[in-house]
Amino acid sequence: MLKAAIMRALRSKAFHLALQTTIISGFGTILISVIIYCAAEATIKGQLDSSVKSEQAEIMGDSNGTESGIVDSIHEELKDSSGLFYALISPSGKTLAGNLSMPISLLKKLNHYQTLVPGNGLKLPPHVLAIRGMATNSSNGDILYIGEKANELVALNDFYSFSFLILGGGIFGIGMAGGFLVARSALRRVEAITVASQEIMAGNLARRIDVDGSGDEFDRLIISLNLMLDRIEALMQNVQQVSNDISHDLRSPLARLRDSLEVSRMTPCDPSMTKCLDEAIEQVDTVLGIFSAMLRLAEIETNSMRSHFLPVDMSTLLDDLAETFKVVGAQEHKTVRASIASCLRVVGDRELLEQMFVNILENAILYSPPGGTISIMAGLNPSGDVDIEIADNGPGIPAHEHRRVLQRFVRLDSSRHHPGTGLGLALVKAIADLHDSAISLAGNAPGLKVLIRIPKKHTAPGSMFECAGTVG
Ligand SMILES: Nc1ncnc2c1ncn2[C@@H]1O[C@H](COP(=O)(O)OP(=O)(O)OP(=O)(O)O)[C@@H](O)[C@H]1O
Ligand SMILES: [Mg+2]
Repeated sequence: MLKAAIMRALRSKAFHLALQTTIISGFGTILISVIIYCAAEATIKGQLDSSVKSEQAEIMGDSNGTESGIVDSIHEELKDSSGLFYALISPSGKTLAGNLSMPISLLKKLNHYQTLVPGNGLKLPPHVLAIRGMATNSSNGDILYIGEKANELVALNDFYSFSFLILGGGIFGIGMAGGFLVARSALRRVEAITVASQEIMAGNLARRIDVDGSGDEFDRLIISLNLMLDRIEALMQNVQQVSNDISHDLRSPLARLRDSLEVSRMTPCDPSMTKCLDEAIEQVDTVLGIFSAMLRLAEIETNSMRSHFLPVDMSTLLDDLAETFKVVGAQEHKTVRASIASCLRVVGDRELLEQMFVNILENAILYSPPGGTISIMAGLNPSGDVDIEIADNGPGIPAHEHRRVLQRFVRLDSSRHHPGTGLGLALVKAIADLHDSAISLAGNAPGLKVLIRIPKKHTAPGSMFECAGTVG
């Protein structure tokens, strides 16, 4: 749980933004530090170099460039213990004067100012960490090296190496922690919006998202969302109201018209009149059927029925339907076969689920030819979903029409001679959607196969008991 929350925060946009800001500001800080370091190093080196340069000029000036003169000058300088280091080496590598032992090979490389640390044949007193200087050739071929103690340069390097570690680690650590906190607080608000949206989608249209009163951009977004939800709820109530008005204002007179037609039909009259009355009653029934289906669809699509979902014994429901349709099929010379696993339980609206399978079975009976076979199969698939397949061996539906026939009022030309409104499969689709279930149509060579897959999350405890039989 905690691990999931941390992973969510680390993957969040807020955390990435905070991390990017940290990296940019970290780079900025390090760049400034590097500039300060370079400036400080250049100043120290400049001071050391100019002091060495003036010492070289002084010695060369005092000695007139002769070997003995240089040796005397070095001895003179060493008496002052000025902190400078000298080495006068003959071309053969012999040390002629000075307080520094340095191999000739190293000396030959020092034709420009360099900072040297002990090693490679260079020995320095313990309190001297580094020296900086350069070598010059005297007129008689001797090499004179003068260097100055450069402990400040070593200290500067040490200080900056340490500072970079602390600074880099600190910035990164603070950035990660800050990013995590920002992400967590942003995610808490987003989570609240997600939870509320899911409840609203599940049918609770009165649900609103809580504002925390801080007046931040989340609060402003939530206030706008809540206003939008108020508006949607009002519109839905209007639609509901209009539907109720239609149902009341149009269905009632139609029902009364139907009653009058029935009464007139009871009265003895001309046979052609009776036929006309029968047709009129049939038409009114169709209109009333369309009204009922439309109202039902509108009601299902609000998702408000989800709040009444209960465990449904799907095996019993399908067994009962199979028994009923065996009788209906027999009257039409069609065989209904069923293979239904005995332990299927889902969570949903029993009445709507029944209506869904009735619509599919009615189609199978209506559109398959006499002598045809309709099969009902139901079971748990390996993923734990409940699969229900109803197949017939009638004319089927061309593959390119499979999606279209799920829309309202779509009827194929080939079936126009059968009674129907073209709303049956639209209702099936709406009921499947309400139960988060997938509906798919396929050919049955010949015929049609309708597969309804009720996902595992809609199965009720009990479904996993030794479910015999699977579909597919
Ligand atoms: N089992 C089937 N075999 C062949 N065609 C089918 C089958 N089921 C549906 N159809 C085709 O799909 C169309 C839409 O079916 P749907 O159930 O939505 O409407 P309907 O059966 O025409 O009318 P009703 O609203 O009374 O159910 C049908 O008109 C028919 O052309
Ligand atoms: Mg139908």
